[in-house]
Amino acid sequence: MKEKIQELRSIVINELKNINDLSSLDKLRVRYLGKKGEFTKILRGMGALSKEERPVIGKLVNEVREELEKRIDVIKVKLENEVKNDKLKKEKIDITLPGDKISFGHRHPLIQVVEELENVFSKMGFQIVEGPEVETVYNNFDALNSPENHPSRDKSDTFYITEDILLRTHTSPVQIRTMKEKKPPFKIVSAGRTFRFDDVDDTHSPMFHQLEGLVVDKNITMANLKHTIDMFIKELFGEEMKTRFRPHYFPFTEPSAEVDVSCLSCKGEGCEECNGTGWSMELLGCGMVHPKVLKNCEIDPDEYSGFAFGLGVDRIAMVKYGINNIRLLFENDMRFLNQF
Ligand code: PHE
Repeated sequence: MKEKIQELRSIVINELKNINDLSSLDKLRVRYLGKKGEFTKILRGMGALSKEERPVIGKLVNEVREELEKRIDVIKVKLENEVKNDKLKKEKIDITLPGDKISFGHRHPLIQVVEELENVFSKMGFQIVEGPEVETVYNNFDALNSPENHPSRDKSDTFYITEDILLRTHTSPVQIRTMKEKKPPFKIVSAGRTFRFDDVDDTHSPMFHQLEGLVVDKNITMANLKHTIDMFIKELFGEEMKTRFRPHYFPFTEPSAEVDVSCLSCKGEGCEECNGTGWSMELLGCGMVHPKVLKNCEIDPDEYSGFAFGLGVDRIAMVKYGINNIRLLFENDMRFLNQF
């Protein structure tokens, strides 16, 4: 019996030499030392032994088992460490590697221009207000003193939603909303989308952008209007810029003017951009608020006067960035947009 135990011990020790992973180690432990293992079998067979032999063999079996368990434990710890180190090596990260580059978007060039315009006007004391793109015919035309038969009212020029509701053709209805909401004095600007039934070409799009301005107070004159526009143009494009006011007609202002600005490319010298005139044409329309419009909004024209202006934001963006095709502003081609 003793020999058998010693032999079993040698077998286990030998097999242990060839073990190099945790699962085979565990299998080996179960096979020899487990409940149904080889050593248990020997203990079961002890009934056949004499009284004297039994404790001796029992002691020996236990000693050998204990020894083997210790040996297994030592190997187990060693293998576990190996696994841990392997994992650490594999999962090592190089914190000096540059990270993945996150690219940020930026605002659309038109929105950049709107924000720049709004900034200039807020510095001049104007409040920024908003108006809806879907308007009433009343706010867009009637209250602005637009005659019943004015061609711009025609279905071929304006997007009607119903007979009384349309997509605003300019930002001027914000004038009406402001005058009805606020008590003078006030100075506001309002930028946004406007819509006209235009065919698309290099300078026209059925959807475009305007910025409206309105000032109402006592003793407001054409001089205030001219000074404000002059200041604004100089602030936006540079000190050397000049403005030119040409008489014009708008139903809601009287007198009215269209304003040209020194050509941005040649600053007035005359170049190819401006066809030699030295001027960038028709950047904005303006005038003194018509007394009828004030009355329509329950402001007394004998007490108050005001001026208004409307700027073509797309035109300004095109002049500013040298863009010769308005379509580029709305196609959302990243190769174009990324330049701004
Ligand atoms: N609403 C006019 C247009 O769209 C511009 C304008 C605004 C003119 C305010 C005068 C005063 O052409």
